[in-house]
Amino acid sequence: MNKKLIVGNWKMNPVTLDEAKKIARKIKRASAGLVSVETVICPPFPFIYPCTSKGESALFHIGAQSASVEIDRGPFTGEVSATMLKEIGVSYVIVGHSEQRARGESDSIVSKKAKAVLEAGLSPIICVGETSRDEAGTYLETLKNQIKQSLADIPPKFASNIILAYEPVWAIGAQEAMKNEDIYESSLFVKKIFSDIFGPEAGVKAKVLYGGSVNYRNAPDIIAIGKVDGLLVGRESVNAPGFVELLKAVDLVK
Ligand code: PGA
Repeated sequence: MNKKLIVGNWKMNPVTLDEAKKIARKIKRASAGLVSVETVICPPFPFIYPCTSKGESALFHIGAQSASVEIDRGPFTGEVSATMLKEIGVSYVIVGHSEQRARGESDSIVSKKAKAVLEAGLSPIICVGETSRDEAGTYLETLKNQIKQSLADIPPKFASNIILAYEPVWAIGAQEAMKNEDIYESSLFVKKIFSDIFGPEAGVKAKVLYGGSVNYRNAPDIIAIGKVDGLLVGRESVNAPGFVELLKAVDLVK
């Protein structure tokens, strides 16, 4: 069975280490009892290591929210490499989140970061998504170019380790998620572009997540009707009871 991948992007939250450890503990405990869900939490850098614990299971993983384009070490003040993240138990790295793109991260940097993450032996969760939609559908062209350029540096041998997160920017931090039918359509479009780049076999196997205002109430339908391979969750992922509810609800989706 293909497990659904549920990724919690904590962003710059919470403020205290104590709170971070409590949230992580609750989520880890809940994830252990699930059957069809793999959980990933992505705390801010200083909280990653304290949120790891002995005996990482196949159902619970730690991720990071970014990594350097430089793969291991060197004179790069302020940077954190994917090799260092792997060293402390990280398995996934979010790359190219729209909040980083808004602060100047280009497609070319996204692609180089994703390559570094893959070379370190980790899986990048590469975020893509249009900032707005128009009747004429020109956003599809924009999305296509963004995906192509964000994957430009990645050798085909890594195709099966890439996860794409489709996050329409207008649905992030919003009141409502995108409509389920539109999520289905867009995720197919993302898979099609992926298969144009890496071939049909890789396209069929490609994992596409949806992100943008997901909560415990809408998550099961997004999975069932939107037919995505998982979710990238922001606000609801630092609300432990809500996130635990979400994981359990998605676990029940056939
Ligand atoms: P949100 O954030 O769930 O709070 O909308 C999603 C994201 O930015 O990944």
